[in-house]
Amino acid sequence: MKILAYHVQEYEEDAVRNWAKNNDICVDIEYGLLTADSVDKAKGYDGVTTQQVIEVKDEDIYRKLKENGVKQISSRTAGVDMFDLDLAKKYGISITNVPQYSPNAIAEFVVTHTMMLLRNINQIKAAQATGNFKWEKKVIAKEIRNCVVGIIGTGRIGFTAAKLFNGLGAKVIGYDVYKNPEAEGVLEYVPDLETLLSESDVVSLHLPLTKDTYHLIDKDNIKFMKDGAIFINTGRGALVDTEALLAELDSGHIKAAGLDVLECETLYVNQEIDKEKLEDSPVTNLMTRDDVNLTGHFAFFTETAVDNLVSTSLDNIKTHIETGEVVNGMN
Ligand code: NAI
Repeated sequence: MKILAYHVQEYEEDAVRNWAKNNDICVDIEYGLLTADSVDKAKGYDGVTTQQVIEVKDEDIYRKLKENGVKQISSRTAGVDMFDLDLAKKYGISITNVPQYSPNAIAEFVVTHTMMLLRNINQIKAAQATGNFKWEKKVIAKEIRNCVVGIIGTGRIGFTAAKLFNGLGAKVIGYDVYKNPEAEGVLEYVPDLETLLSESDVVSLHLPLTKDTYHLIDKDNIKFMKDGAIFINTGRGALVDTEALLAELDSGHIKAAGLDVLECETLYVNQEIDKEKLEDSPVTNLMTRDDVNLTGHFAFFTETAVDNLVSTSLDNIKTHIETGEVVNGMN
């Protein structure tokens, strides 16, 4: 069995080589993207994997994979919106994903954002940079054990975050259309979104982006948030109306925001860019404020998560080739 791994990043190389060694399977690394120009490199291989934001929607890619006998594209991502599932189906190519790779990676990042903002670390650093090391009233902090943390979306990541906050002594409340059966002793469900917003000192979003959740937090319901509350979003940027959030930060109603995701993040995620490119977006403002921590979609980025992304995607190929079974298939 031979596998070709497209668009391998430096930080993935060890995980790819370890999997190949442990499974005694040849995995060749290709640093470039899977495109109509590079698809012929897959000739002679039994399966391919890739990890890319750039679209894989050119019909030639699917047609040539089929001609070369490759029956699967195994994505090293959770989302598969970069593929054309109809074209994949037409040419008999299965698209597989990695639905979960480390809920702890994201949940720990939520705690990190929360604690930095709660303890006013940005403001303390800014004052110290000017020589001001005084204990000033404006940076005296609440302790997390005296806070109510509101988790919106209590699935894999939200529930893991709830357990971490519970362990720190916070009261955790949750809102979800589906109740997690393990919630008892970790979080209490509230009946609706408005109740969660009005009772929480920290609000954290952990939902998928769908037509039902687009701008779930908008200019009307954001008003329900407590004065001085902290807002965290590691879900998807478009879960919140960024302009509405900015208005509440400007007015001082919301104390601070930790934003790993933003609606316009394709402008910059995992790229080195000219900052002028961001001038017409809210990014420059958000990057330079003391009351916002913008982290450019790094919540998942841990050694464990990367290892799981690589190994699960390669496992998906191995199972498919050995048994014909499509694991984690999207079509
Ligand atoms: P999950 O599927 O385990 O949990 C999502 C929860 O949201 C479910 O319990 C579901 O019932 C709930 N939900 C869905 N629609 C809802 C609605 N309209 N109202 C209330 N609750 C609703 O998903 P998981 O693994 O916890 O991931 C959550 C999100 O985190 C993902 O959809 C993704 O957008 C984001 N994510 C962000 C990463 C990052 O690096 N920043 C990395 C991985 C995921």
